[in-house]
Amino acid sequence: MEHNETAEASGAEMRRRGFLARLSSVAMVTGLVAGYGAFAAIIARYLYPARPQAKGWLYVTDVAGLKPGDSVVFRTPQGATAAIARQGAGVEASDFIALSSTCPHLGCQVHWEQQNDRFFCPCHNGTFDPSGKATGGPPFEAGQSLPRYPLKVEGGLLYIEVPLEQLAGGGACTLEKPGGPPGPGHDPCLYARGRARV
Ligand code: FES
Repeated sequence: MEHNETAEASGAEMRRRGFLARLSSVAMVTGLVAGYGAFAAIIARYLYPARPQAKGWLYVTDVAGLKPGDSVVFRTPQGATAAIARQGAGVEASDFIALSSTCPHLGCQVHWEQQNDRFFCPCHNGTFDPSGKATGGPPFEAGQSLPRYPLKVEGGLLYIEVPLEQLAGGGACTLEKPGGPPGPGHDPCLYARGRARV
């Protein structure tokens, strides 16, 4: 009787050890696969580095056409919109600023308010300082900013640098004044054209 109990205990111990051995093998194989996967990803990044996005300069307006304190809305070929404001009286690119006019909160259109020295989003009273940093409303609470586009002035003409992929977006356009209904998906360029036809 005692002999049988000893044999059973010994069998259970062997099964437990076998189970633990299999478990540790599985863990080892899983670790190796994960390690090789990460290594392969590093090699792939080295062999096939991400190509920098192609960018190009697009004409916006002649410098004289935008008075200090004025702003225009520019639509990139991809359909993104930028608010371009003249914040200085000079004729250098540093006298202008181009920021995405799409509010990072819920996508309404922001516009430049010269009298308040800020960009304003009418949907939920979001405010941004002249550099695009949020100063009030939901974008401020979320620590969001308006992305900035580079500008340059050549021969009295103002140009904006934008990504050139997805050129099928419908072409660029510039509006003299921001306008149209504020709201997600609003395209101020198309809106202005539609009103012009009425
Ligand atoms: S969408 Fe601009 S503050 Fe909400």
